[in-house]
Parts: sequence; C-alpha cells; structure tokens
Amino acid sequence: MPSIQACLFDLDGVIVDTAQFHYIAWREMAQDLGFDLTREENERLKGISRMESLEIVLSIGGVHLSEEEKLRRAADKNARYLDLCMQMTPDDALPGVRRFLDELKQNGIPSGLGSASKNAKVILERIDMLHYFDTIVDGNRITKGKPDPQVFLMGAADLNVTPAHCAVFEDAVAGIESAKAAGMLAVGIGEASVLTEADIVIPGFENFGLPQLEKI
Ligand code: BG6
Ligand code: MG
Repeated sequence: MPSIQACLFDLDGVIVDTAQFHYIAWREMAQDLGFDLTREENERLKGISRMESLEIVLSIGGVHLSEEEKLRRAADKNARYLDLCMQMTPDDALPGVRRFLDELKQNGIPSGLGSASKNAKVILERIDMLHYFDTIVDGNRITKGKPDPQVFLMGAADLNVTPAHCAVFEDAVAGIESAKAAGMLAVGIGEASVLTEADIVIPGFENFGLPQLEKI
C-alpha cells in the first residue's frame, strides 16, 4: 500500500489563480471606503474566509461598519469577484494540475477539495474540473476556517482515509498550518521562504507527479 492514499487540494492558488480576482474586488471595496489595499496586505487574506477577510481589510483601513453594512459590502465584493471569475476558461487551470489529477485517478488515488471558498463548485464548473473530485469540502460545509484542521479532516473522513495517509496541496500559510494540525503531509505550492511549515514546497505541478510525491 502506498503511504499516500488520498490527496486533498486547496482551490484558490493551487488549482486556479483566482487570488488576483479576490485582490481586485477587495481593493475596489477599500478604495470605495477611502483607502488602498496593497498586494502585500492582500497576502494576509489567502485561505481566510470571506467575512474574516472583510474584517482584516477594514482593520487595515481603520474603518468601522455596522454588521448590516459589513454583510452588504461582503455581498457586493462577492458579486464583483464572481463577475471577474466569469472571464476564466478551462485553460486557466494552473499548469500541470490537470495532468496530476489524471495521474491520481489512473492510479486509484482519490482526490478531494478542501477550500474556504463558498464559490468552490461554481469555479470548478467554470474551468470544467468539478468531475476530478471525489469530495468537495468548501466554505458552505465548514464551521471552522483554516488554520483549523476541520476542512481537511472532513475531506479525509469523506474519502475514508486516515489523516496520516493524506497529502494536502496548499498555497496559504493558514492552509499549511491546517494540514499539519490534521496530521497530514503538507505540500506547499509557492515559496519555501513563505510556507515554512510545509513538508516540502514546490513551485507548481509542472514537474511533479506520483513518483515525486512518493519520495517525500
Ligand atoms: C480562499 C481564498 O480559498 O477562499 C480567500 O484563498 C477567500 O482569499 C476564501 O477569502 C473565501 O472565498 P469566497 O469565494 O467564499 O469569498
Ligand atoms: Mg489558496
């Protein structure tokens, strides 16, 4: 039996680069409220739920809003975000990820999605990748966001694989923490200097497959 029996994938920044659209939509909201949001500040929002992200953005601008206004702003941001996402096509899947998911399928290794996003299914449908996933754990199912391990533990339970036999692919610091707290192998997608808690960090899936996974 291979030590890895299931793979769990974050969505934004791992399967597809939607971070740019989140950034544009949050930045427009910030500018409408009278302040700017830098790319660096936007890094803090990766892997974090919509309402928590809103709180972070508001705190950056030192802006206080009523609960009702917060809900309205979050809804407006999401409408703008989804509008931007509609530009995406199946070609927008990140390089190599489709091939890797095919390789897993051919080898009988189930794949699950573990995302904070409430838009996960819409995005996967848009890029024609929903069919790759044997389970979807998204922002509509979880009650505790990353870095809590809940999202990945639910994925492992759905796939009937013990956490120690799961590998997680994540681009966010909060997501790597979540994977480690779940007792899983954490593969960082991005830079080792940022994802310091990951078991290994790769730039993407272009030169990565099952043989490389089994060697970690
Ligand atoms: C995560 C993103 O995947 O989903 C975060 O990294 C985002 O930036 C979060 O805030 C929630 O997304 P959504 O689509 O429910 O607003
Ligand atoms: Mg991500």
